[in-house]
Amino acid sequence: MGSGMNVCVVGLGYIGLPTAAMMALAGHDVVGYDVDPRVLRALADGAAHVKEKPVRALVVKALRSKKLTLSSEIPAGSQAYVLCVPTPTIDHKPDLSFVQSASAAVAAVLNPGDLLIVESTVPPGTMDRVVVPALRAAGVDPDSVAIAHCPERVIPGAIVKELRENARVVGGRKPGDAEQARALYASFTSGAINTTDTMTAELVKVIENTYRDINIAFANELALLSEELGVDAHEAIALANQHPRVNILSPGPGVGGHCIPVDPHFLSNANPFVTELIQTARRINERMPHVVVRRIVEHVAARDGAIVAILGAAYKANVDDTRESPTERVEELLRERGYLTRVYDPVAERYRGELAASLEDAVRGADALVLMVGHDAFAAIDPVAIAPLLRRRLLIDTRAFLPAARWAAAGYDVYTLGGKRRDPLHFVTAS
Ligand SMILES: NC(=O)c1ccc[n+]([C@@H]2O[C@H](COP(=O)([O-])OP(=O)(O)OC[C@H]3O[C@@H](n4cnc5c(N)ncnc54)[C@H](O)[C@@H]3O)[C@@H](O)[C@H]2O)c1
Repeated sequence: MGSGMNVCVVGLGYIGLPTAAMMALAGHDVVGYDVDPRVLRALADGAAHVKEKPVRALVVKALRSKKLTLSSEIPAGSQAYVLCVPTPTIDHKPDLSFVQSASAAVAAVLNPGDLLIVESTVPPGTMDRVVVPALRAAGVDPDSVAIAHCPERVIPGAIVKELRENARVVGGRKPGDAEQARALYASFTSGAINTTDTMTAELVKVIENTYRDINIAFANELALLSEELGVDAHEAIALANQHPRVNILSPGPGVGGHCIPVDPHFLSNANPFVTELIQTARRINERMPHVVVRRIVEHVAARDGAIVAILGAAYKANVDDTRESPTERVEELLRERGYLTRVYDPVAERYRGELAASLEDAVRGADALVLMVGHDAFAAIDPVAIAPLLRRRLLIDTRAFLPAARWAAAGYDVYTLGGKRRDPLHFVTAS
């Protein structure tokens, strides 16, 4: 194995597409297969839908080299099939139907000696309970093929770099399976490749994201407590992080994307009784959009026609992805309370709501500006230049991103989530 395999990547989204391109440019003959004709059409038309520039460049190069080809049907004759299909939750329960149907499709063309890799993030036990049964149902003896789970751990915004450099966890179903998968990854990645069993690999991926969710929940709890104490949580966290064994993440308006808010449910759903910490963290983070809305209500009465301009629809800075974005929830809650909302995001794509065409369009007549995402582009906003467009100069910064002193000097009332309040809520010192 190594270079020169026939590989099929199943699912050409954020993960599958760059993975397919990377493998093609490493010398494999890769067929990218997707059930969505729009995805295949967009790729054939030049991949303009791929907003992360290094990913698009990689994909265009791979397609031009003809080592990456596209197909609307699963190809027979590949030696390795790599599943990168979605694993969402419905009502906090894992929806494994994509993994199930993709496994069944692969099973129909799988030959003895072939390699099946699942890269999708899955609840522990999915390889044994969903993937292997799908093979058996199609008459494939799972012992006759190699089966591995190699969860993807890249971060949107640095996908190409991380695909190349990240350490991998490769879980094999039986001795030898992980080695077969390792050889494929070694052909295009430079990071360490650690082998284990499938269940451990499944667990590792999910606990990584759950760890971050819990850490962010802790930061959010500190932000709310600090407001009551009259302390700047951001300063306190930065100082605590100077300790060599402390690394607290940043508070914010909630947790988005389709990994961190989703993956903890894969654990709590497995056993609700022993996962109280995980569930509590999730609740704290899900409550943050409500906290943001509450702060907005404290500053701007929900009279008819009050306009809130929201900066940022993506779930985090400098990415186009709006899935599970806290902005969606904040907008929904504001509208329920009678506010008019306008969302501006120069980076985001495919937002569920409407996006304003320009910053000026978003802020014209607004009673409040709410910063939800720290996109680099927002750092360049000139508070003085936009002031005449606003009905009221009020900035609510949920990320402590904009320079509060500069905005205050331009005549804005500034509220920063977790920032030092002039009116700490409680704590009267006994004299
Ligand atoms: N996006 C991330 O940053 C990220 C990071 C690490 C891990 N993951 C995990 O990777 C997996 C894929 O995520 P994504 O963000 O690439 O999803 P995505 O929605 O961007 O792409 C999935 C693609 O799979 C296609 N698809 C669905 N069912 C199919 C089937 N049966 N056969 C062929 N194609 C099919 C869809 O049409 C879509 O194009 C998920 O499990 C996710 O949790 C994502």
